[in-house]
Amino acid sequence: MNIHENHHVLLEVRNLKMHFPIRRGLFKKVVGHVRAVDGVSFSVKKGETLGLVGESGCGKTTAGRCIVRAYSPTEGEILFREEESLTEDMRKLKVHINSHRRKDNATQGDVIDFARLQQDDLRAYRREIQMIFQDPYSSLNPRMTVLDIVSEPLVIHTQKKSAELKDHVADLLRKVGLRPEYMNRYPNAFSGGQRQRIGIARALALHPRLIVCDEPVSALDVSVQAQVVNLLQDLQAELGISYLFIAHDLSVVQHVSQRVAVMYLGKIVELAESKALYRVPKHPYTEALLSAVPSTNPDLKRERIVLTGDVPNPSNPPSGCAFHPRCRYAREICKKETPPWVETLDGHGAACHLVNELSLTGVNVE
Ligand SMILES: Nc1ncnc2c1ncn2[C@@H]1O[C@H](COP(=O)(O)OP(=O)(O)O)[C@@H](O)[C@H]1O
Ligand SMILES: [Mg+2]
Repeated sequence: MNIHENHHVLLEVRNLKMHFPIRRGLFKKVVGHVRAVDGVSFSVKKGETLGLVGESGCGKTTAGRCIVRAYSPTEGEILFREEESLTEDMRKLKVHINSHRRKDNATQGDVIDFARLQQDDLRAYRREIQMIFQDPYSSLNPRMTVLDIVSEPLVIHTQKKSAELKDHVADLLRKVGLRPEYMNRYPNAFSGGQRQRIGIARALALHPRLIVCDEPVSALDVSVQAQVVNLLQDLQAELGISYLFIAHDLSVVQHVSQRVAVMYLGKIVELAESKALYRVPKHPYTEALLSAVPSTNPDLKRERIVLTGDVPNPSNPPSGCAFHPRCRYAREICKKETPPWVETLDGHGAACHLVNELSLTGVNVE
C-alpha cells in the first residue's frame, strides 16, 4: 500500500532499521550492533488498527519508539500524511520546514518523512503521533498531579491559559471515563486501569491522528483489560484515530485489529487481514503463536505448539531464516538463505521458503 498512491494510507513505514551500537572497553569502541529493528515495512490506514505482534524481544517497542521519533532510526522512511486542515501555527511551521528541507525530500506533496526531520522541526509534527506505554506505573511521573500530566503536552504545544487548561483536562478526563474532580491527585491514588486511562487522556490532548499503543493492557488485571480495550475502540470510533496496537500474543489484538503484522527478531514475517491471518496462517511462527489462542469452537482438537528457547540475540541473528532453529518444518535451505517476502493479491504476505508447500493450522474466528 503506497502512501503516494492511496489516500487512505496515513502512515507508511519503509525498510525501517534501528541498530544500537554495542560499545566495549576504555575507548568505548563499537564492537557490534543490536539489530533491534532490521528492515520493517508496513502501512496503517486512516481510522484503522494494525496489530503488531511478536514475543518479547522481537523489536516491537523499538519500532514504536522510532515511529514517534523517540529514537532516530538508523535507516528507512516513516512517511506520514499531513492533515488537510492545518492550524495557523502548523502552517507557518510547515512553510518554514519546507523552505529548508525540500532538498532533503523530507516532504513530498502532503506526505512528510518523519525519519528525516531534525529535532527542531519534529516539534510541529510530534503532536500528530502519540504513544501509550506498557507500564502505567512507571510511565506517569509520581510527583506530578493528573492535571499536570495531562496538560503537559498542551502547555508545550499551545498557548492555553490556566483556566482553559483545566477545562480542557476536565473534558479529556471525562472522555476516558475518569472524574474531573480527581485532577489534583497524584498517580499513586489510582489503580492500574485508571492510570492507563490517564495515559490515554494525555495522549489524546493534542488530537493525534495516530497512537502507538505499546502493550497497553499487558500489565493490567485481566478483569480491566477489556475495559481499556473497549475505551480505545470507542475513542477510535468517535475520533477516527488510527492505532498501531502492539501485543505479545495474538489473542489481545484479535478483536481490535483490521490487519495484523507478526514480527520476529526485527523483521515482519507475516502480514494480512486479521481473519485471513487467524484462519490460514502462512508462517510457522504465526502458527505457533496462534496455537496458544483459545478457539471459539471447543470441540476442535488443536495441538499446542511449544516454542522452545527464547528469541535469539539480535546482535547475532541465526543464518538464513532467523526462525529456523525453532521451526518444526525447517529444511536445509532455511539455514542458508533469507526467505523472500511473498505476497498474494489480497495483500497476505509472508517470508517463508515453504509458503507454497505447508498448510498450517489456524483458529476459528468470527
Ligand atoms: N536502547 C537499547 N540499546 C540496546 N539494545 C536495545 C535497546 N532497546 C532495545 N534493545 C534490544 O532490542 C531488542 C528488541 O527490544 P524491544 O524493542 O524492547 O522488543 P519488544 O518490545 O518486542 O519486547 C532486544 O534484544 C533488546 O534487548
Ligand atoms: Mg516491548
